[in-house]
Amino acid sequence: MLRQVILSAAGNDRVKTVVAGAPVSRGVVRRFVAGEAVEDAVRTTRELQAGGLVVSLDHLGEDTRDAGQAEATVRAYLLLLDRLAEAGLTGDGRCEVSVKLTAVGQTIDPALALDNVRTICASAGAAGTTVTLDMEDHTTTDATLAALQQLRVQFPSTGAVVQSYLRRTEDDCRALAVEGSRVRLCKGAYREPASVAFQSAAEVDASYVRCLQVLMQGPGYPMVATHDPALIALAGTFGRAPGTYEHQLLYGVRPAEQLRLAGEGQTVRVYVPYGDQWYGYLMRRLAERPANLGFFLRALVSRS
Ligand code: FDA
Repeated sequence: MLRQVILSAAGNDRVKTVVAGAPVSRGVVRRFVAGEAVEDAVRTTRELQAGGLVVSLDHLGEDTRDAGQAEATVRAYLLLLDRLAEAGLTGDGRCEVSVKLTAVGQTIDPALALDNVRTICASAGAAGTTVTLDMEDHTTTDATLAALQQLRVQFPSTGAVVQSYLRRTEDDCRALAVEGSRVRLCKGAYREPASVAFQSAAEVDASYVRCLQVLMQGPGYPMVATHDPALIALAGTFGRAPGTYEHQLLYGVRPAEQLRLAGEGQTVRVYVPYGDQWYGYLMRRLAERPANLGFFLRALVSRS
C-alpha cells in the first residue's frame, strides 16, 4: 500500500519539485548514489573494487522524450567508459555499465535507442567490458528484449534483466537461459497492474524462486539481484561453483552483506548509480523499504 503511494508520488510533478529541491534530499541521496560527476563514479568503483567487489555503473536518467538529451546520455557513458579504462578498472568483468533504453531514446523511437545503445556497447567492448540493459516498466519489456536479441548478435555478452513480479517472466527466463547469456533476475521496482504483475510479496517471491531455478539449471550466467537473505541463501543451493553466477546488490544497501559474500569467494557486483537525475531512482528505493523512508523523514525532521 505504502509502496503504491510512494510510486504514485514519484510521477507527481509537484511532489518532485518539493523533494528534489529540499536541501536534505541531497544528503539522503548520497547513501544510495555515488555522486553527480564521472569522477565520483570512478572513485567509488575504485573503492568498491579495493574491497573485493565488482561493479555495474548506471548513469542516472530515464524516459527522455528529447533526442538531444538521449545523445547527452550516450556521451556521458562514453566518457565514463574512457575514464574507467584509463584508470584500469574495467578488466576481467570488474566493472560493466547498466543502461536504460528509455534514457537513450526508446520512447522517441526504438531504432534511435538501438543505435545509441550500440554505440555504448562498442565503447564498452573497446574498454574491455560490457553492458546490461536495465528493465523498466512492463510497457517496455517486449521492446527491450527485442533490442537485446539484436545487440547480442554483435555484442554477445550484453546482459538482460527480468523481473519476477511480472507473470510472463518464468517464460522469459526459459527463453533467455541459453549458452552465453547473462541474465539479471530482480523482483521489479515499478508500479504495475494486476493484469500483468503479481501483487503480493509472497507471489513475487515464489515467482523469484521458480525463475531462479530455471536460470540456475540452464547453461547461462545468472545474476542474482536481491537483498533478500532467503533468496541469497537459496542461490547457493543449486550446486553451481562460485564464478559461474554472481550476486548483485545496490550501492548503499546491506554493505556488510556484500563484503561477507565476497569474503566467501562469491562474485558480488554492486550496482552504482551516479549523476544528477536521481529523483526516480531515490523514490523507487524509498518505496521498497519503509526503513529507507524512515531514514529520509528523520533526516528531514532533524535538519528543519
Ligand atoms: P525486498 O525489497 O522484497 O526485500 C527483501 C528483504 O531483503 C527484506 O525483507 C530485508 O530482509 C532485505 N532488505 C532489503 N532492503 C534492505 C535494506 N535496505 N537493508 C537491509 N535489508 C534489506 N528493478 C527493476 O525493475 N529493473 C532493474 O533493471 C533493476 N535492476 C536492479 C539491479 C540490482 C543489482 C538490484 C539489487 C536491484 C535491481 N532492481 C531493478 C530493483 C529490484 O527490482 C527491487 O526493487 C529491489 O532489489 C528490492 O527488492 P529485494 O529483492 O531486495 O527484496
